[in-house]
Amino acid sequence: MTDYALLGRQLEMLLDTRDWITNAAQTAAFINEQIPDLNWAGFYLHRQPQTLLLGPFQGKPACNPIPFDKGVCGAAARTRQTQRVADVHAFPGHIACDAASRAELVVPLIVNDEVWGVLDMDSPQPNRFSAEDQSGIEALCRIFIAATDFT
Ligand code: SME
Repeated sequence: MTDYALLGRQLEMLLDTRDWITNAAQTAAFINEQIPDLNWAGFYLHRQPQTLLLGPFQGKPACNPIPFDKGVCGAAARTRQTQRVADVHAFPGHIACDAASRAELVVPLIVNDEVWGVLDMDSPQPNRFSAEDQSGIEALCRIFIAATDFT
């Protein structure tokens, strides 16, 4: 089982600047390296109205842009709720960037009461993300937000 408390302490040490692009790049690389069975991990950023633009990530080149009314990422941004999808083939409107992806976890990143972006993780393994993974990754997202200046 993934030790999210340990990963949290390691991520806090890794994020030693306040710069959002540095911290987002490091966070994507750290998650991709440390969490097993992922084929993509990264950020989509809310930089245009009701639209997500691809940000720092690890993995194959990905779909861009993603409107708030499309896909798992759009659902996370629109509802401000984490989307934990056991089987992306069963999710209406899922956007398949990579046919290998089967499970997905998307955490909305709320900064100053606005959706700053989302953290998206894909896995080729169906049902990859448990409730424990969700809360562990949400905790890593809080560490990323606390370590970063968004202005
Ligand atoms: N599958 C996502 C699109 C982004 S990629 O997985 C990197 C979605 O449905 O929003």
